[in-house]
Amino acid sequence: MSVRRLDSVQPKKFEFSPANLKWAKNQIKKFPKGRQASAVIPLLWRAQEQHDGWLPEPALRAVANMLDMAYIRVYEIATFYTMFNLSPVGKYFVQLCGTTPCWLRGANELKDVCRRVIGEQQQVTDDGVFSWLEVECLGACTNAPMVQINKDYYEDLTPESFEQLLTDLREGKAVTPGPQNGRQFSCPEGGPTTLLNGANPKGKASAKPSTRAKPAAKRGGK
Ligand code: FES
Repeated sequence: MSVRRLDSVQPKKFEFSPANLKWAKNQIKKFPKGRQASAVIPLLWRAQEQHDGWLPEPALRAVANMLDMAYIRVYEIATFYTMFNLSPVGKYFVQLCGTTPCWLRGANELKDVCRRVIGEQQQVTDDGVFSWLEVECLGACTNAPMVQINKDYYEDLTPESFEQLLTDLREGKAVTPGPQNGRQFSCPEGGPTTLLNGANPKGKASAKPSTRAKPAAKRGGK
C-alpha cells in the first residue's frame, strides 16, 4: 500500500455549505449521545464531494471539531481509507482496477491508455479534465476489465472502447455506464443461458418437459 499524505498545497479554510451543514447535523443526530464520532466517514465523504473530489486538511479539522474528535483520529481515518483523496483530482477521476481478474482480462492495456491519454497516476491533466489511479478490486470482476469514473462503473472494456470513452468525456458527449460490449449487466455474453422458462438459448420452446424431482417413496412401503 502506498504512503498516503496530505497535499502540499492546501486551502486556508473549509466550511460546509449551508445545505451540507444541515445534512451533517442530521447525520450526527442518528448516533447515541457520546457516539457522534461514528458519523466521521459520512461527514468526510460529504466534505470530499463538496471540495471537488478531494479532502483538504482544513476539512479534516472542521469534521474533527464538529464531532469533538482529536484531529489525529480524523487524520488517521482519512489517510487509511483510499476512498478519500488527499490531493486534487480531475473533473473525471478514473479509478482503474488492477486486481487479478481485471489484470488477466487486460487491465495493463487500459493502464497504457491512461498513461498515454491522461499521464502519470495521480496527476491532473493541464485542462483539469482527468486524473487516474490504480485501485484494488471494485467488485465488478464478472465484467473485467473495468474502471470507475466518478460514481459510475464502465465495464467489459478494451483499450479501444476505453480510449473512445475518455475522448467522449473530454468532448462532453453523452456516455453510458455499465458494460461497453453490449452485454446486459453481468449476464453471459450473447444473452442468458439459464432460467429461460422452457426456452432454449435461441428462444425456441424446449421439447423436454420440466425435470422436477419425484417425491421420495414413503417409508415402510405404504
Ligand atoms: S478484479 Fe477488477 S473488479 Fe474485481
